[in-house]
Amino acid sequence: MSTNGVDTSRRRFLTAATSVVGAVGVGVVAVPFISSMQPSARARAAGAPVEADFSKLEPGSKMTVEWRGKPVWIVRRTEQNLKDLPTLDASLRDPASEEEQQPPYCQNEMRSIKPEYLIAVGICTHLGCSPTYRPEIAPADLGDAWKGGFFCPCHGSRFDLAGRVYQGVPAPLNLVVPPHMYLADTRVLIGEDKGAAS
Ligand code: FES
Repeated sequence: MSTNGVDTSRRRFLTAATSVVGAVGVGVVAVPFISSMQPSARARAAGAPVEADFSKLEPGSKMTVEWRGKPVWIVRRTEQNLKDLPTLDASLRDPASEEEQQPPYCQNEMRSIKPEYLIAVGICTHLGCSPTYRPEIAPADLGDAWKGGFFCPCHGSRFDLAGRVYQGVPAPLNLVVPPHMYLADTRVLIGEDKGAAS
């Protein structure tokens, strides 16, 4: 075999070996880059925002999404609900939402960006149970004055359909309204608002 032949083979081998190492190197680098573009389960649990589409939610219905490991309710209130809510103020502990249980853009009569939709963390402000959705008007167990809301089965706290707590129950505060922003008419990003109202 000539010197030239040996040199050529060796060159071919080195070229091939370098290509393999190069390909492996790209693979190793590419994996963390791709995975960094998706929020991991740990990042979601730590607080990454979640998107919710509620285009199929009927008036009077509720759906739940998970954010930071907590249930977040989206309730579509009815026309009647919107009329009833202002009539409840005298029975509530913090009707004007003066305690900081919501972002500033939800410190209004309906505690929401759009009056039709309530978005609230579904955890009782007493000891953390998840209240039950009770949209009925005047059911036997909750009394004639009940206009729909949330009832906590643990110790009997009551909240209206804006998540405002009633007087005379163990829960001290209104339900928490999380930061959120609308991405479309019936699509919302929960956990991020960029400081904006919508
Ligand atoms: S945890 Fe809801 S009333 Fe106690």
